[in-house]
Amino acid sequence: RSPLRLYSTIDDAVSLIRKSSKIVVISGAGISVSCGIMDFRSPNGFYAMLRKEGIEPPEKIFTIHEFRKDPSLFYKYNHPLYEERYIPSLTHFFISRLEAENRLRRVYTQNIDNLESDAGVSRLLQVHGSSGHFSCMTCKKKVSIDAISPLLKKGEVLYCEHCPVGTGVMKPDIVFFGEDLPESFYTEYPLDLESCDLLIVTGTSMMVQPVSHLPEILKKTVPRILVNRDVVGQPGSYDIHLLGNIDTIFSALAERLSWRLPVTKDERT
Ligand code: OAD
Repeated sequence: RSPLRLYSTIDDAVSLIRKSSKIVVISGAGISVSCGIMDFRSPNGFYAMLRKEGIEPPEKIFTIHEFRKDPSLFYKYNHPLYEERYIPSLTHFFISRLEAENRLRRVYTQNIDNLESDAGVSRLLQVHGSSGHFSCMTCKKKVSIDAISPLLKKGEVLYCEHCPVGTGVMKPDIVFFGEDLPESFYTEYPLDLESCDLLIVTGTSMMVQPVSHLPEILKKTVPRILVNRDVVGQPGSYDIHLLGNIDTIFSALAERLSWRLPVTKDERT
């Protein structure tokens, strides 16, 4: 695909948003960094931290066959995500406003932090699942994160209360490498992407399949905007590159659209 040469500036992005009613957003960990949650692949991200601890490759912490062999690694280094409640960023609220304005077709988020829902987004597909629950790998019984978060802080493997002592490892209901994505990904995503009239990709390195392949489903003529610190994907993947801090860029877009967004943690402090 060659970029559609008609667009290039932030004002082009604003006019595209104004005239689109089936916008698809593909998002990733970068949109929650300002909320206090590390992303994965930035130089100071979660994977760099794991490498410093000698865990190589760091992805193995989220790989299902490694977890089956030895779940202690996951529990020892489990993402701080499970230990605190975070507040959505300005970017989450921008996406929510897209929906309120009837412009949003779907958000495909790779994030498991539920911050899109907390910001009020309902047209949401959490392609890597949600951090809200853990399930027993043996009896499948579910528990909510609120019930177990004090235990998670200890960094020890969590076992099921309903299985014999020391059996029934609890696993978060997130998609590990080597596991299937939620059924809705295969049933809903082709429909939403086929009808999409504007793509916004933000806060993701687009390095993990199958999300990295989603843009290929769109018609070639659909304009694509990247909002990110760095350029990702193949050359020519995007028509407009808005590079820099995500919240700053969405704030500038909101201002030009005359959208007032809720006050976020950053602005309060
Ligand atoms: P990554 O950490 O791979 O990518 C985050 C992107 O956001 C990078 O391009 C950063 O430069 C950018 N970024 C971070 N903070 C930013 C900021 N404040 N302003 C602008 N840009 C910023 O995260 P994902 O692409 O979401 O999967 O990672 C995809 C998947 O890899 C995750 O869902 C997880 C991981 O392994 C599983 O565990 C299955």
